[in-house]
Amino acid sequence: MSEINRQWLLRARPVGMVKESDFELNEAPVPAPENGQVLARTLMLAFEPAMRGWMEDRESYIPPVGLGEVMRGMVVGQVVESRREGFEPGDLVSGMTGWQEYAVSDGFTKLAPGVTPELALSVVGITGLTAYFGMLDLGRPSAGETVLVSGAAGATGSVAGQLAKIEGARVVGIAGGSEKCAWLTKEAHFDAAIDYKSEEVGARLDELCPGGIDVYFDNVGGSILDDVLARIAQRARVVLCGGISAYNLEDPAPGPRNYFNLVIQRGRMEGFIVLDYLPRFAEAAEKLLAWVAEGKIAWKVDVQEGFENAPKTFFRLFEGSNLGKQLLKIADPA
Ligand SMILES: NC(=O)c1ccc[n+]([C@@H]2O[C@H](COP(=O)([O-])OP(=O)(O)OC[C@H]3O[C@@H](n4cnc5c(N)ncnc54)[C@H](OP(=O)(O)O)[C@@H]3O)[C@@H](O)[C@H]2O)c1
Repeated sequence: MSEINRQWLLRARPVGMVKESDFELNEAPVPAPENGQVLARTLMLAFEPAMRGWMEDRESYIPPVGLGEVMRGMVVGQVVESRREGFEPGDLVSGMTGWQEYAVSDGFTKLAPGVTPELALSVVGITGLTAYFGMLDLGRPSAGETVLVSGAAGATGSVAGQLAKIEGARVVGIAGGSEKCAWLTKEAHFDAAIDYKSEEVGARLDELCPGGIDVYFDNVGGSILDDVLARIAQRARVVLCGGISAYNLEDPAPGPRNYFNLVIQRGRMEGFIVLDYLPRFAEAAEKLLAWVAEGKIAWKVDVQEGFENAPKTFFRLFEGSNLGKQLLKIADPA
């Protein structure tokens, strides 16, 4: 085992598009676990667009990462040394211990049997759970309804759309590029896909959703949200999951121009934060895992390699380079 723990620290609050110089590579000694703690070697890091918000010094649903602190993020690791009952060297664990090669924590969770690191960080991890609660608790699609998902080929969107399919809805996805759109309709059970980078979104929605949109699961905000609001059906549910199109803007984006259609159509637009559903995570993860096993949820991960590539791997989310969950492998299990 190495005695050095490489870490990516937050060096500067980003202005506009996040960049490599906002982070700093640091070397620290590998920490020793105290009573009740576990030392784990990080095997894989998971990346979320929300991390861009955590880098800013503003009030949110979670405190900002402090300057000079290890960049926050979910990981899967392997226990090296344990001073916590029920945890043994070799166990695979997940936790929010951030961009570092080793971490001590009293908050690790053991991976359930049959759950690989890739699954733990995607479909049965935060993004799959976000899709589950956002789509099923807020969107509440029913058979025959038309459901639209943006960011549809991403980690959250791809699961959200397939959950609506399981409920019997007709599902249309919006994603960037022909490869992502082909994956949605050929493998991920979507009925149709719109490539927002090469197609006119409003015109395509008119073609594909002539009766209006009953549920819109929004991951991107911006002009796509406006195009959708103009086309909602009566009693539509607009689920605000994320707004990635604005995460790297220096000034707030303008509000949606077509919001008044919510009044005309008696619609509802509601945001949520997945962490509020913590007490129901285990129940949801079990169901998601069963749907994966039954082939009802197709999933993909995009695995980059090398700890030194953590910032670059994070930026892939904003470039749209990832198909499925963005991960970074930094070590093999022992
Ligand atoms: N509310 C919650 O509790 C919660 C929890 C987790 C995640 N989220 C949100 O869910 C959304 C998806 O997160 P994820 O982790 O699953 O990431 P992801 O969808 O796997 O990756 C991000 C995707 O966003 C798209 N994108 C990037 N820039 C864009 C832009 N300017 N306009 C439109 N699309 C853009 C890209 O796909 P294309 O190639 O298709 O553009 C990219 O692949 C994010 O907004 C995130 O903040 C919310």
